[in-house]
Amino acid sequence: MPEQRIRLDINNVLRAGAQHGLTEDELTGAEKQARQAVQAIQQRRASGDLRWMELPYADVSEIEHMAADLRHRFDDFVVLGIGGSALGNIAVNTALNGPFYNLRRERTTPRLFVLDNSDPEFNVGLLDVVDPARTAFNVITKSGSTGETLSAFLFFRERVIQAVGPENWRDHFVLTTDPASGPLRELVRREGFRSLPVPQGVGGRYSVLSPVGLLSAAVTGVDIRQLLAGAAYADELTRQADPWRNPAAVGALVQVLLYRKGIHIVVMMPYAQRLKDVADWFAQLWAESLGKRVNRQGETVYVGPTPVKALGATDQHSQVQLYTEGPFDKLVDFIRVERFAVEGRLPQAYTEMSAFAYLGGHSFAELINAEQEGTAVALTEAGRPHMTHVLPEINAFTLGQLLYLLEVQTAIAGELFDIDAFDQPGVEAGKVATYALLGRAGYEGRRAEIARAREQHDEHWVI
Ligand code: PA5
Repeated sequence: MPEQRIRLDINNVLRAGAQHGLTEDELTGAEKQARQAVQAIQQRRASGDLRWMELPYADVSEIEHMAADLRHRFDDFVVLGIGGSALGNIAVNTALNGPFYNLRRERTTPRLFVLDNSDPEFNVGLLDVVDPARTAFNVITKSGSTGETLSAFLFFRERVIQAVGPENWRDHFVLTTDPASGPLRELVRREGFRSLPVPQGVGGRYSVLSPVGLLSAAVTGVDIRQLLAGAAYADELTRQADPWRNPAAVGALVQVLLYRKGIHIVVMMPYAQRLKDVADWFAQLWAESLGKRVNRQGETVYVGPTPVKALGATDQHSQVQLYTEGPFDKLVDFIRVERFAVEGRLPQAYTEMSAFAYLGGHSFAELINAEQEGTAVALTEAGRPHMTHVLPEINAFTLGQLLYLLEVQTAIAGELFDIDAFDQPGVEAGKVATYALLGRAGYEGRRAEIARAREQHDEHWVI
């Protein structure tokens, strides 16, 4: 599918030169590291580790059947999950169904809501827009124990029981969780809920192409087979041993080399409203995978690039001033779309005024791509490194390709940083502290520690 291939252009990393970008020598000098990192990832995969890499080849017929049934029976579909159990769902929906999906006048598939926060107004507020009697809930938690998700389940479970009675309420729920263990799996066994597995060895932020992300996508009419076909195509590209033919290896190498030179921030900036939430999904993937205190030898390293999400052209009028003239600590990763689904041709009017005359006859598509190019030129002239992922168009195939490509890029960057890109001890620490604060059984010791630490603190500095 070469015509659907995503290209990565790193010319402007080299143009930024030795001080703030990379020289060709620096890049080619690191070839061996990149080659070894790709090899290490593929070896781990071959040994049965990194099961997320096999997701493009999974059988999705059960998901499609379940989705067809849910589509037919419900007006609204609500995902209850957080982090890796929510961000991919949002990214896929915005990219493939568009930002106005829920508001479309003509729609034959359920509206989609993703509740990924314990904010009371957010959760209770949903009841103003959906009728629990006509709504299906997909509770997604790999561990089966995340408090944000289980609290939402408790809350909406009761609302559905109130709406439909004690007999059939379970039909409104699909529980997506670990196939064997955890509290939610226990509920599936005890109460016979419908369920889907988060395959073993697939961590939250690498799970968008598993049942975690695929059920809501299929319910809302996304062609999930095309999504996986795109991911399989990215697998072909990113398993190549030659790093210069492997976009994930080049993307990872550029970012790790720049990090070593003090460029610690990567700004993902798609110039397409539909890709806004891909930047959000990527921020979690990059931050949670690469932000680590220790390396694989257990040495303290405090490593990790900081991802920032931006949206072109919107953030040209917000953040780009900083990127062009602020500290030399950022790489901008543009995502550019060659062909939009619609062009949005602009009519000619007020042609006697130059502010209008040059716009008439162009299209929004030309405009947004000129804006991307304009920002790129400004960054280059200011000596700032930037690279561009170029999508021929936004469709299920290219999105699947992009998501998988960025996942492999993250795994390779983890190898280059020599850290474990698949754990998240910092997130777990926060979860445990929350359990302790809310009095979960088994966490009494941690609760006492937190209380003691609070007593020792001087609480005067609350102004
Ligand atoms: O990527 C991760 O592992 C995390 O962001 C998890 O997805 C998040 O903490 C939610 O975990 P769970 O799916 O177990 O509820």
